[in-house]
Amino acid sequence: TLAVRDRINEKKRLALLGGGERRIEAQHKKGKLTARERVHVLCDSDSFIEYDQFMEHTCTDFGMANEKYPGDSVVTGQGYIDGKLVYIFSQDFTVFGGSLSSVHAKKICKIMDQALLVGAPVIGLNDSGGARIQEGVESLAGYADIFQRNVLASGVIPQISLIMGPCAGGAVYSPALTDFTLMVKNTSYLFITGPDVVKAVTNEDVTQEQLGGAKTHTSLSGVAHRAFENDIDALLNLRDLISFLPSSNRQSSPIAECVDPWDRDVPVLDGIVPLESTAAYDMSDVILGVVDNREFFEIMPNYAKNIKIGFGRLNGQTVGIVGNQPKVAAGCLDINSSVKGARFVRFCDAFNIPLITFVDVPGFLPGTAQEYGGIIRHGAKLLYAFAEATVPKITVITRKAYGGAYDVMSSKHLRGDINYAWPTAEVAVMGAKGAVSILYRGAQDVKKYEDEYLDKFGNPFPAAVRGFVDDIIEPRDTRRRLCRDLAALSTKKLSNPWKKHGNIPL
Ligand code: COA
Repeated sequence: TLAVRDRINEKKRLALLGGGERRIEAQHKKGKLTARERVHVLCDSDSFIEYDQFMEHTCTDFGMANEKYPGDSVVTGQGYIDGKLVYIFSQDFTVFGGSLSSVHAKKICKIMDQALLVGAPVIGLNDSGGARIQEGVESLAGYADIFQRNVLASGVIPQISLIMGPCAGGAVYSPALTDFTLMVKNTSYLFITGPDVVKAVTNEDVTQEQLGGAKTHTSLSGVAHRAFENDIDALLNLRDLISFLPSSNRQSSPIAECVDPWDRDVPVLDGIVPLESTAAYDMSDVILGVVDNREFFEIMPNYAKNIKIGFGRLNGQTVGIVGNQPKVAAGCLDINSSVKGARFVRFCDAFNIPLITFVDVPGFLPGTAQEYGGIIRHGAKLLYAFAEATVPKITVITRKAYGGAYDVMSSKHLRGDINYAWPTAEVAVMGAKGAVSILYRGAQDVKKYEDEYLDKFGNPFPAAVRGFVDDIIEPRDTRRRLCRDLAALSTKKLSNPWKKHGNIPL
């Protein structure tokens, strides 16, 4: 018999081998890294400490007693990303296809519990064939134990899922409960039931990629927030995302070193909004013009493109940015953009990240598709999110702020702290054409009435004289003003009435 030390070393050696050379090679052949290789790319060098390398599955059915791998099918532990402590689990596809046994779930739950105790983000690298078929209901119980923790941790610590292989069946609900779901193009997929079951039940022919690949979920379903070219690209971007986030809701928004002068003029902004009020421009130019070093980590860039959301920094401080995008559907609010915006606003509010909102919105999208789809309750989500948010809220109306959408977009009336208008701003119930067609139904001299309306409402004054915007500022001054305001608002204290939780329209 081996001495204890030798047995320890042997187990560790076997743990590091996962499912063995042959399966590691198969993993690499698919263009994927192994579970441990991924962790090492993700963490600062040599900072990852692994937990539970000795845990083994406890299943004895189907000949499983003789097939054990130290650590089983998931690598768990903690490490650092740019000096920030994070807890990580990384599913090992080389061991039983990364399937979830009860010990696999216990390992994940252990690090989730600890992350919640100390207040540090949890990152899940998913690559799994789902429930460990040999373990049956034990495995289902394991999923539920994880879901329960996802829910309790929601709004307390950031939770991020990176899908790097299969994720199917019940397994999809842990990523769905986390704050951000990222995917790797061509090698990852998420679905409730695979193509074979789909064929049997609905007679649809669909490939894995069409059903649940990165493109589907980042552009069609809105299930995933970003997709990346390969494992390394995804892991490096994940490091980037983490750099914007506080470790928990007990911390304030992170402040990074800033070399970009906070008080610089941004003259290009003066020419961004076209003279013609219906002409499009790109809100990205406004956002990139204002933030530090033109760095904007966009969330859901390919879904509901009529609204833009993401993280940037102003004088080093992380801010959440929401902006209508006049380039797509004139920047109107619809079901998908409302839901996209609402979840982001709530994330920022939960984690003390100030909100900067750029407004150019002609209203809500009309039509039966939207009304039947429930635009009323979905639009209400964005309204609810802005209204309940207690973080610093600064709003810049670059052009249109029409109708109910004006109220929704972080208006003064929803406890906006500082609300600006650019000289090009128009705050009104609706555009001139629509207004005149109702006010002067059947009138001949439409042009005259439209001009009259525009003169009255097509400018920032009606809002400014009522104090609904605090100032009319030159676009070039926007960065300086936002940075100053954030400093002033850094001591803002505001809380909502006590409640068990609100009842956001779902
Ligand atoms: N439970 C136990 N073992 C599993 C498993 C599971 N859910 N999923 C995969 N495995 C094992 C396979 O038996 C295989 O073992 P081996 O290396 O000893 O041959 C290994 O993991 C790799 O699986 P394989 O099917 O060869 O990989 P693939 O890349 O061709 O396909 C999947 C991957 C996920 C599509 C396929 O394995 C699959 O459909 N698994 C079942 C998914 C499922 O229905 N899960 C339950 C729903 S919650």
